[in-house]
Amino acid sequence: MHPGPQLYSPEAFSSQRRALAGTWQFVRRESDSEAPWTSARLGMEGVLVNGDRAYPNVCTHRGAVLLEPSPAPDADAPTSSKNSRLKTSITCPYHGRQFGPDGRLKVAPGCPEVPAGEDLEPLAITKLGPWSFGRFTAPPTAGPLAAGPLAAGLLAGGGALPDVSRWVDGLPLDALRFAGRSSYTVRAHWALWVENYLEGLHVPFVHRALARTLDLGRYRTVVEDRVVVQIGPAATGPYVPLPAGHPAGIDVAGLYLYLYPCTALNIYAWGVSVNVVEPISAKETRIHYERWQWPPAHGAAQGDVPEHRLGGQARALGAQADAQGGPGGALDQVELEDDAIVERVARGVDALIARGGRLGSYAPGWEDGTRAFHTWLTS
Ligand code: FES
Ligand SMILES: [Fe+2]
Repeated sequence: MHPGPQLYSPEAFSSQRRALAGTWQFVRRESDSEAPWTSARLGMEGVLVNGDRAYPNVCTHRGAVLLEPSPAPDADAPTSSKNSRLKTSITCPYHGRQFGPDGRLKVAPGCPEVPAGEDLEPLAITKLGPWSFGRFTAPPTAGPLAAGPLAAGLLAGGGALPDVSRWVDGLPLDALRFAGRSSYTVRAHWALWVENYLEGLHVPFVHRALARTLDLGRYRTVVEDRVVVQIGPAATGPYVPLPAGHPAGIDVAGLYLYLYPCTALNIYAWGVSVNVVEPISAKETRIHYERWQWPPAHGAAQGDVPEHRLGGQARALGAQADAQGGPGGALDQVELEDDAIVERVARGVDALIARGGRLGSYAPGWEDGTRAFHTWLTS
């Protein structure tokens, strides 16, 4: 049973936003700076990354953002001295508080002694291939910050990172090479984007060109613990270079792994497209793409990057700053089609929220992922 259009309301959104901070999210670097302290995003929240550690990017004194996104590294700058300064501590630009690389507050100007309990609290961090996932360790569970019923399931995600290991075992994730990033905005609640991602039912209607490359009669959705896997068998190659005995089979065009709540890893013949969902408001979501290519030795994949994907990559590489997803910018056809249909749904559910309408039943098999997502979100 669909939880109802209120799932997408501004009221539900504010509790979802708070609860999301306690879930595992992709650590999305904001630049390729080599500096020891770099800023990154964890869903909607800013974080500071130092090696394998991450902290909230907020000063514990009056809440100033500690580090703005770093500009691209300056080739002429004497990086060693710059780096060694950064390595030792990070200084707040407002009143000069200094935090060590372990997040500990070391200097607090104006205070007779360094106050206790005002260190930067480290986030939980875990790795998957070349990627880091993090979560804030103390999600709000009580009082005015408690999650409502349409976000309660986000608080249960405090255990381990959703486990996709049986789907990526044998793939050389660590050898993937970063090939660019881009972002764009969808005028819709984040859950609408995720729902659309989680089902293949719309493919023949919304993505006619894509549908011709897939053998939709054999399209499969597998639901596991906070994981949804979609397997898109290819009508003809190229195939994902999966190892022998892989649970998806051998003739797969796309293997789509969703890690609840906001990350997807799309595995293709040419590499992996990471999708990170950043909820902005009840009516706006930012989708971030990172493209990672297989090393030349892996599979026959290199020549097979679909043209629209390659175009997106090239543009993202050449013009990261303006790859902000202006209409038609770095988006490929499939993304544009999804975008348009999700925005169309957003307009529809707005009307349902206003007049207290309902939403319909799930297509068995095809919409198992969407159904599981709603269950996880609200239980
Ligand atoms: S806000 Fe950072 S030192 Fe005051
Ligand atoms: Fe789609």
